[in-house]
Amino acid sequence: MTNKVTKAIFPVAGLGTRFLPATKSVPKEIMTLVDRPLIQYAIDEARAAGIKEFIFVTSRGKSALEDYFDRAPALEEELRDKGKTDLLEVLEHTYMDSGAIAYIRQHRPLGLGHAVWCARRLLGDEPFAVMLPDDVIAADTPCLQQMIEAYQETGGNMVAAMEVAPEKTSSYGILDVGDDDGQVVRARGMVEKPDPDSAPSNLAVIGRYILRPSVMQNLEHLRSGKNGEIQLTDAIAADSANGEQTHGFRFRGQRYDCGSKSGFLQATVAFGLARPELRDDLRQFISDMGQIERAAQ
Ligand code: G1P
Repeated sequence: MTNKVTKAIFPVAGLGTRFLPATKSVPKEIMTLVDRPLIQYAIDEARAAGIKEFIFVTSRGKSALEDYFDRAPALEEELRDKGKTDLLEVLEHTYMDSGAIAYIRQHRPLGLGHAVWCARRLLGDEPFAVMLPDDVIAADTPCLQQMIEAYQETGGNMVAAMEVAPEKTSSYGILDVGDDDGQVVRARGMVEKPDPDSAPSNLAVIGRYILRPSVMQNLEHLRSGKNGEIQLTDAIAADSANGEQTHGFRFRGQRYDCGSKSGFLQATVAFGLARPELRDDLRQFISDMGQIERAAQ
């Protein structure tokens, strides 16, 4: 089995009910932070990590995602006629090489593990990445690239990991922590969304995974787990139980939970402040807002 990771699965079939009514007609992955959709951040991160094949697990109502990665001849022509080469360059990032992108439908919402399993026929006997576009990670070295570098040393399965407040364990996959060198943690096991009083730690899985093909095989036989869904966490835990190694990787960077409104707003502000052309205005606005709020109290 090769150690090279060139394929990534993007589970994007979710309904995004937390963002209704917006997500009634717009896939949540198309919602924008400043001017780029969430999915673009994930794709850029994957590309930086050397991913060459992008597998989207979609569902009904997600066709805007397919259009987003398609060429837009009429728009391009108009921009060219108007001499807007800077905008044509912006569009370049949205294009994919022919055949580099595949769409598979998950016909029923049976869980993250099931979504990943839907892509099984597009993978060979090779490790693969899974990226959840809701988790947006701002980092000098993109998170998946950090992981792939560490993975070249460790092999096995690797998941991005981060400490969360102990009362938040029931929102995450949680690692049962073994040896810990500060960055790479040997996981004895993993539990999906445990209550705080039964959680093995507060080290949570964040939506970046590098997985062995055996995890896909485990999904084949898995029964539904937490919340009646087929859980990716359980398939990874089964690999650990079979004696394969799983590592948690404490990435360097700031993670935003863009699956929640508050996380999405925080990311919007942070990415806005990171843009030189927006920074001053936005800073001024935030400071004015603070003053108005204080005055009102
Ligand atoms: C999923 C995974 C969970 C992981 C989380 C990271 O949960 O099932 O193990 O910790 O993503 O964002 P979801 O947030 O989709 O409920």
